[in-house]
Amino acid sequence: MDFLLKQIADYKTEIDTLEVASADNLEAYRIRFLGTKGIVKNMMGEMKNVPVDKKKEFGQILNDFKQFAEGKYELWKESMSGNGVAAGPSIDLTLPGDQLPIGSRHPISLMKNQIISIYQRLGFSVAEGPEIEDDFHNFTALNLPEHHPARDMQDTFYIQQNPDWLLRTHTSNIQIREMEKGQLPLRIICPGRVYRNETISARSHCFFHQVEGLYIDENVSFADLKQTLYYFVQEMYGKDVKVRFRPSYFPFTEPSAEMDISCQICGGKGCSICKKTGWLEILGCGMIHPNVLTNCGIDPDKYTGFAFGMGIERPALLKYGINDIRLFSENDVRFLRQFVAAT
Ligand code: PHE
Repeated sequence: MDFLLKQIADYKTEIDTLEVASADNLEAYRIRFLGTKGIVKNMMGEMKNVPVDKKKEFGQILNDFKQFAEGKYELWKESMSGNGVAAGPSIDLTLPGDQLPIGSRHPISLMKNQIISIYQRLGFSVAEGPEIEDDFHNFTALNLPEHHPARDMQDTFYIQQNPDWLLRTHTSNIQIREMEKGQLPLRIICPGRVYRNETISARSHCFFHQVEGLYIDENVSFADLKQTLYYFVQEMYGKDVKVRFRPSYFPFTEPSAEMDISCQICGGKGCSICKKTGWLEILGCGMIHPNVLTNCGIDPDKYTGFAFGMGIERPALLKYGINDIRLFSENDVRFLRQFVAAT
């Protein structure tokens, strides 16, 4: 009988050190210990060899062992229910999982999408075009022939291998490409990245983003331009915003204007952001120059149109209270993470 007791103790130690990590392991365990020809059954069979006066004591020990072996089986089975992999009895499967960090949209994208959605409500559709552009689409077609002094207004990056190629200085190249398709009327907005050789500082960068717009049809007037832009700023900045148009010059529009809105920081009283004027310049605009229409194969006697162009960085700086334009392109996650909840 001592031999049998020693065997039971050994089996217990074996069970305690077992690692049951899969459904297969568990089944092997069941067959070995609890099956019809398993160890527990075998031990029961030994009962007949135990002296009568020890039967009761041995029966007790055997029963404990059986319960121990069955208990372990149930425990393992429960811990792997569902996924077939043992999670181990110490793991609480009801606990919520680890939170994975969610990415966020870039503030420039947020601003761009907001601008786009306002113009889409007016029936404009989005058009895109190449960032590496030829001279014709970036300048010549826009009434800026070679040696035109206004080319100096936009410090251009040229491609060294071929000076006819450049990084576009505005998204007006998209407008030319769309006009060339000859499908009128045309009502598009053109978002995108543009490049100018400017010294990088808190206020300016060598690349930035624009949204330009274009509307060509019969009888389009300056009043349509004003009303479209007025709708835009009201949607963007609220009904109380004031606007003013100042005469300006762009080679591709005639007449040309710049539009200011009442300063959103001081409400028009004058502060450091608006340089004490109470106004913030937000875009350039005008009626498309007849030469531009002609360059794109559109008859200027039949069609008229307006165009406007605005940067995205400056309104984003204002909206999110950011004081350095360089933050937009440094990809510092501490900065970018702040826009997770923004829309
Ligand atoms: N293309 C001009 C710029 O980049 C903006 C503009 C677009 C002005 C359309 C007038 C009309 O500065």
